[in-house]
Amino acid sequence: MYNLPGSSKAVSVPDPGQTEPGQNLGTTTVSQARTVGEVLADSQVEPLLAELENELIGLAPVKSRIRDIAALLVIDRLRANMGLASQVPSLHMCFTGNPGTGKTTVALRMAQILHRLGFVRKGHVVSVTRDDLVGQFIGHTAPKTKEVLKKAMGGVLFIDEAYYLYRPENERDYGQEAIEILLQVMENHRDDLVVILAGYEDRMDTFFQSNPGMSSRVAHHISFPDYAVDELLQIAHKMLSSQNYVMGEGTAEVMQQYLQRRLVRPHFANARSVRNALDRARLRQASRLYADKDRVLTETDLSTLMPEDLLASRVFQQQSPTE
Ligand SMILES: Nc1ncnc2c1ncn2[C@@H]1O[C@H](COP(=O)(O)OP(=O)(O)O)[C@@H](O)[C@H]1O
Ligand SMILES: [Mg+2]
Repeated sequence: MYNLPGSSKAVSVPDPGQTEPGQNLGTTTVSQARTVGEVLADSQVEPLLAELENELIGLAPVKSRIRDIAALLVIDRLRANMGLASQVPSLHMCFTGNPGTGKTTVALRMAQILHRLGFVRKGHVVSVTRDDLVGQFIGHTAPKTKEVLKKAMGGVLFIDEAYYLYRPENERDYGQEAIEILLQVMENHRDDLVVILAGYEDRMDTFFQSNPGMSSRVAHHISFPDYAVDELLQIAHKMLSSQNYVMGEGTAEVMQQYLQRRLVRPHFANARSVRNALDRARLRQASRLYADKDRVLTETDLSTLMPEDLLASRVFQQQSPTE
């Protein structure tokens, strides 16, 4: 993981399943595959698809779209093996949905799927926002955007809140320059770079209406629904167990009430709000345990969140407008 200059959000996550870029495909097995099963087995993409299915709660429509895209990619491989003329399929995507609905998480997995099937060389994700691409002064934007593109080559460029690139109220906005460079690269380097634009659905729609060039280059639009309370609760269980915590007696019920209240408050951010709530609950659990200096703490004590660890949240105090 590294940061781009001037950016705290840019991340790079290589596909841990592969070592050397470009080694996985094109030479031996996958290039000889004649069946879907052979491509799946040789590319080792199936465990990734299974992981996506099992580790992410809910998201049924998203998972089904990813399966469709994976099918397209696999068949494209088989067609190429047969020597059937084919253009590299356009794989640029748009992920729309509210904050915390899993867009970034799915983009990381998508990058790995693309990599294993040989559609990008490295499978890393470079995640940026407008400020990483657009400069403050004349002449600064092109080098900034090109630098980011250089880092993203061979992987996925994830542009969060992509519509901020376009500011129609300011006719001299440098965002337009970044968009034009992106458009060129999205067309000319589509065999080695996949761009995923992400953000709120309505703003993205407006952005595409004003930027038909961008709209025509994005082939796959995937919309991420908000989670229902029971899904958020399952996400909470999953997050806790991955950190070796569990909910003690009565905690799940309190968590459910917490979520019902949190859901209608300002700045609710789906699974991200769950993560934040659990972080705070762990702080409270730690203070609770810390208070008794002489008590021998068992494994259960250390790993159990109790109802009071959540009930102390401001969400349970009627008046307060924030958490
Ligand atoms: N379906 C899910 N199952 C489990 N955890 C999830 C799910 N969706 C999101 N998360 C978790 O919630 C947090 C926020 O997700 P993220 O992908 O950053 O959302 P977005 O990019 O849409 O704002 C991350 O920690 C992620 O692991
Ligand atoms: Mg995100």
